[in-house]
This record gives sequence, structure tokens and C-alpha cells, in this order.
Amino acid sequence: MSSPQYIQFHDILVPSQAHSRESLEYAQNFSVEDTDVLAVTYPKSGTIWMQEILPLVLNEGDLTPIRTIPNWDRAPWLEETRLAVVVDQLKSPRALVTHLPYGLMPPSFHTSKAKAIYVMRNPMDILVSSYYFHQMAAFLEDPGTFDEFMDKFLEGRVMFGKWTDHVKSWRGSDLGDRIMFITYEELVEDLPASVRRISAFTGKNLDEDTVQTIAKNCTFSSMKSNQMSNFSLVPKTYMDHDKSPFFRKGVVGDWKNHFSSEQVSRFAAVIRKELEGASFSLPWSL
Ligand code: A3P
Repeated sequence: MSSPQYIQFHDILVPSQAHSRESLEYAQNFSVEDTDVLAVTYPKSGTIWMQEILPLVLNEGDLTPIRTIPNWDRAPWLEETRLAVVVDQLKSPRALVTHLPYGLMPPSFHTSKAKAIYVMRNPMDILVSSYYFHQMAAFLEDPGTFDEFMDKFLEGRVMFGKWTDHVKSWRGSDLGDRIMFITYEELVEDLPASVRRISAFTGKNLDEDTVQTIAKNCTFSSMKSNQMSNFSLVPKTYMDHDKSPFFRKGVVGDWKNHFSSEQVSRFAAVIRKELEGASFSLPWSL
């Protein structure tokens, strides 16, 4: 099933330009520290947003990193090639991000006391966001029509596999109070409240002024105009914002502008079936 753009890693596909066999192995052997906090997402659920929020919470509102360090080095992906390059520059407590399903996390994560923040997003909005992302990111395959892309997504023939498998793996983890669940929709609805929750979870308990400063600097418009976060530093041959900007819409419910009623029924039927018997329920009606 793998194509030149992807590497098969266990039962999932990962894009080969951002990951290599070495970086995936590096991630498996990575030494997770007790103080690390990892933002975990299925792609297009708010990863880059967490690369802005989390370092700001962990360094108590100091804006220097988001103004001077590109997001991919400020809160690097566990499984991408940049981690090995910047690991020695990361200050404790370290902010990391990952798209890995729970079962592929490195052994040191399990034995550490590191914390995880799992960000979940309505999969219908993920599909739309991913569809446009595949058009602008040269390292991903052409998505084809929206209908064709929906089939690929539902069958897990996309990076990091099926959304349902990813969510089930993390929701079913036995991390107890080491994991916090939040949704993209909660972040959109009340960013200061979300920052407060993240601050309490990470033991920072930031004062209200700091919470407000962080929220103000993590809005869609602030991030879209932040060169260190908006991917304008990467070559156009890698990401072409003229085809679709990375900071595309940043809203809840854009799926309503893309799905036909037949597609809604087909999509919802597959997702519902795959989540039958799951120990959690979705916060959205599908
Ligand atoms: P859209 O394509 O729906 O606009 P990821 O970082 O996991 O790739 O997710 C990207 C999605 O998160 C994009 O969604 C992007 O616009 C959205 N996003 C990033 N920062 C955001 C913010 N501050 N507020 C709202 N949405 C944000």
C-alpha cells in the first residue's frame, strides 16, 4: 500500500519527507523525561496550535520562543527528523508533539511520568482540513476528489492510519492522571479557559494575566501572522500557501460546506460502527 511519499511504519503510513527510518527509530529509542509534556494529535486536529500554547504555558508566558523559534523546533515532533537536531537546545520542561498512536509510543514514555494532552477534533472537519492540506503540501499525495479522499480516510490509507484507531488507542490508554483530553472545539469556544485547564494539568497554575497573554498570542489571526508559526519560512515547493494557506479557516463545522447528505450518512455510518463498544462517546453527533 505504500507509495513513494509514504513509509510503512508498523500498521500506519507516515510521510517520507518529514520522517525517515532513522527518525522513527530515534523516536523509539528516545529518552522521555518525567517533566516532558507531549501534545498528541491525529493530523489536522490542532497540532500547530498546541506548538504555540504548550511552550508558552510551560515557560510561564515568556513570548521569546514563539517569536524566535519556528514551531517545529520549539515543540518538535517526536517522530520527525528535526528532534535529533534540536534536542540539546530544548529547555526543561520540554514541550513535544506527536501523531503516533499510543501503541507506537517509545518504551521510555510508558516508564516515565511524562504527561500527554490529547487533542481530538470532529473527524468531518479533519477530513476537510486534510483535503486542503494535501493540495498544498508537496510531500503528501494528491488527494483526488473529495469523495475519493473520504474513502481513503475511512479506510486508513492516509498518514497515521484510521482516525478511529488513533482515538481508540489514546482514549483506551491506562495513563490515569498523566493524560488530559481536550477538543479543538473547546479550544475554539473558549481559549482562555482551555489555557487555564492546560496550565492546571501541567502544574503551572498561571495567574490570570499570563493566561490572557497566552490566549491573545494563540488566536488564529496572531498565529497566521507569526512567521515562526505560519510555515512561511518553508519553501513554496514544500508547502504552497497559494494553493491553500496552512492557516486556512480555523473554524468549527466547515464540513457543512463540503459534505453532501449522502457523504454525511456514509461517513457517520463507518465511524459509528468502528466506535461500537468504545469506552467513550464522541462530543459531537455524527
Ligand atoms: P483548518 O484547515 O480547518 O483551518 P494541524 O496543526 O493539526 O495540522 O491542524 C491544522 C488545523 O488547525 C487547520 O484547520 C488550522 O487552521 C487550525 N488551527 C491552527 N491554529 C489555530 C488557531 N489558533 N485557531 C483555530 N484554528 C487553528
